[in-house]
This record gives sequence, C-alpha cells and structure tokens, in this order.
Amino acid sequence: MPSLRLLVLFFFLFFPVHSQEDTPIARFLRYLQFNTAHPNPSYADPISFLISQANAIGLHARTLEFTPSKPLLLLTWPGSNPFLPSVLFNSHLDSVPAEPSKWIYPPFSATLAPDGKIYARGAQDDKCIAMQYLEAIRNLKANGFTPSRTVHISYVPDEEIGGFDGSAKFAESKEFEDLNVGFVLDEGQASTGEEFRVFYADRSPWGLIIKATGDPGHGSRLYDNGAMENLMKSVEVITKFRESQFDIVKSGEAMNSEVISVNPVYLKAGIPSPTGFVMNMQPSEAEAGFDLRLPPTADPDLIKKRIAEEWAPARRNMTYELIEKGPIRDYLDRPLMTLTNDSNPWWPVFKQAIEAAGGKLSRPEILASTTDARFMRQRGIPTLGFSPMTNTPILLHDHNEFLKDTVYLRGIEVYESVISSLSSFKGESY
Ligand SMILES: *[C@@H]1O[C@H](CO)[C@@H](O)[C@H](O)[C@H]1NC(C)=O
Ligand SMILES: *[C@@H]1O[C@H](CO)[C@@H](O)[C@H](O)[C@H]1NC(C)=O
Ligand SMILES: [Zn+2]
Repeated sequence: MPSLRLLVLFFFLFFPVHSQEDTPIARFLRYLQFNTAHPNPSYADPISFLISQANAIGLHARTLEFTPSKPLLLLTWPGSNPFLPSVLFNSHLDSVPAEPSKWIYPPFSATLAPDGKIYARGAQDDKCIAMQYLEAIRNLKANGFTPSRTVHISYVPDEEIGGFDGSAKFAESKEFEDLNVGFVLDEGQASTGEEFRVFYADRSPWGLIIKATGDPGHGSRLYDNGAMENLMKSVEVITKFRESQFDIVKSGEAMNSEVISVNPVYLKAGIPSPTGFVMNMQPSEAEAGFDLRLPPTADPDLIKKRIAEEWAPARRNMTYELIEKGPIRDYLDRPLMTLTNDSNPWWPVFKQAIEAAGGKLSRPEILASTTDARFMRQRGIPTLGFSPMTNTPILLHDHNEFLKDTVYLRGIEVYESVISSLSSFKGESY
C-alpha cells in the first residue's frame, strides 16, 4: 500500500498546479511583483527569488552586504578559462515609486494585458534585463554552451537614489577586484524605433547653489549692489549660457545629452510675513539652486572657473557651493566614457553579437541622466548601457510603465547572442 505522502507526491508530479506555471513570462511577472519602490524597497524577497532561479539553472550565488540591510546579489557561471578577465552583467533591484491612482493596473500587480503589454513599475527600468540575463543563461546551458570567460550577474541596491551604498561600494571592494572584470553591460533605455540603443557614457550631475548678499533697504529705494540685484545678474548670465547650449541641440548639431545642461530648480529670497512676504523691503540675502549635467566631453575645471568668475563672482558679493554627485573622471583622470570604435576590443564583439541576433544598433549615445555604469567606468572598465527594447515607448519612471511580452522574449534571444559572444572572446589581455 503506498503511503498517503507518496500519493500526494505522485499527484503533484503528474498534475502540476497551473497557477505556478513556469514559463519565461510567468517568471518575469513574479519578479515584477516584488514591491521594490523607494523609500522602502524590498530587497530580501526579490533576492530569495533570484537565488532560487539561480539554483534551478546551476549558478553560484552569493550575497554581499556593503551597507547594512542593503544586500547585493552576485551570481556566477564559471568559465573554462578562469584566467581570462570575466564579463559582468549588472542590474539594480530597486525602483522609483509609483502613484497607483494614475495607473490602469496596480504598479506591482504585473498585469499581462490581452494585447501582450506587461504593466509594472520596473518593467523597463530595469527588471526586464535582470530576468533576461537569467533566461538567456538558462537557454545557453540547455544548448550545452560553455563560456570561456567567467560570467557574473550583479543585482545591486539603491541605484535609483544614486548607488552610493550599492554599486559605488561594490566597485571599490576587494570582492569586486577579485572578479577581475574585463567588460560590463549595464542598463540602457527603450528605443521607439527598430534599432537598439547603446550608451557609452552618463552625464555627471552637479548641484550648484549660489548665494548673494548686499545692503538691505526700503523697497522704494534705487541703489546699487543689493542682494537681489546681484543674484538676478547671475541668473541672467546662467540663462544665457543655458540658451547657448540649448541652441546647439535645437539646431540639430548635438543631442540633449551631449551638451551641458543647467536648469534653475529653486529660488530662495525675501522676508516672510504672516501673509506671504514683506513687500517694501529689499532683502540682504538671496539664493538660487541649479541642476547641472556635464557630458564626459566637458572640461570640469573650465566649468568651475566659469562659476567662480561669471556665475557667482566674489566681486558681486556672491558665494557658491558645488555638490558633485559621483565621479567625473576615472582613476587615471580620463573622461568617464567607453570607446565605441575598434580601439575598444570589446566593441566589435558586442556589435557583432547584436547583428548575429538580427538586430542593429543606433548611433552610440550619452545618457542624459546617470546609472551605476559610472562607478565601473571610474575603475577604467569598459562599460556599455544596453536594454534590448525596440518599438517601445520610453516609460521609465512614468505612469503605466510597460513592456510587451514579445519584446521581452526577443530580448532573451539577444542576450543569448551577447552573453555567448562576450564570454567566448579570446583576447588574452582584456
Ligand atoms: C557687498 O555687501 C556689502 C554689505 O553686505 C555692501 O556694503 C557692498 O556694497 C556689497 N558689494 C557689492 C559689489 O555688492
Ligand atoms: C577611437 O576613438 C578615440 C576617441 O575619439 C580616438 O582617440 C581613437 O583614435 C579612435 N580609434 C579608432 C581605431 O578609430
Ligand atoms: Zn534603471
């Protein structure tokens, strides 16, 4: 007589529970359902899920914690030649928040609509690549492929709030050094056309606060060198510079991300009164804040000189504070960019892998914002930003972020080509 336990086991072996369907799309939906939105992203649960996925396909998994309660997951597929530098595929675990009332489906329900669109916060940024890396490796393994170079996947915390407790610490760690990484692929962005986009640099963000002082006085008086006048002069100069940069974009000579942007983000002045501000007094202090973004081609020292001499000159009673958010040069003082020509031996390998998968790359771009790629480039490691999404509206950080199932599945095939090509690249010294 078979025991009840055996009978139950027998039942589940032959009648798998349908709601636990195990397909690439079902696995993607499960990963999308973890609420990883700031300010309280869940990290432990998605990491447990990823570890179970890694175990199922035979990857080594290890969790690193450079900041308490901000774990980082590292998966490894050992290569047959462990002396060659490895390749690293990165994605971040966290997401920006979502306003559920503005969505047609709840942002962490991961709803697959009848037209194939998968709605979820993180569907494009960047939970798609997190799972596509794994699915590609699953398929390569099933086809008997063995990499020469070791392949690593990192799942890092806190990218959406700057990455300083995640990738930045990882890139500086002994553990990272030991991986001997030769090339990194990190997230990119969706393409509305047929071609895949690829990013070779991020712009570096700076916060600029300028402060003016001057004599206070009655609102009726005309006099020179008031704090407001001093600040307004600076605002005019900065506005002119902003226009000169924007004109280059408007004329089509450069893309938005290739020029220096400077945008006013706050103004602070005036003497508060119970009903608003005192209207008949010229204040003795005034301040303004700007968001500045520098492409790698800009010379940071020249901008600093411009700020000190023109935007906030001491001769106009101005002082300033510059908040540099992240690196701007690599460890050898070179611009933080990855070459996309034959001087970078990885470039043709990557490009051909895309073509072998039937895809085409558009002209390499600078990303207007930032990603964790900058911390890898800071270490001098060639790093490209790439998320295989074509014919897809750019919806990162937007309401109703979605990715089509067919686009997601095609991305897996693209990574099969990319992972197998990069991990087979023979160049000994890279
Ligand atoms: C600088 O501020 C002082 C008082 O705070 C004022 O006397 C002087 O005129 C100001 N100079 C300029 C150039 O604004
Ligand atoms: C690649 O680009 C860099 C920077 O623009 C340039 O210095 C280098 O000569 C280029 N290499 C090739 C092979 O074109
Ligand atoms: Zn992202």
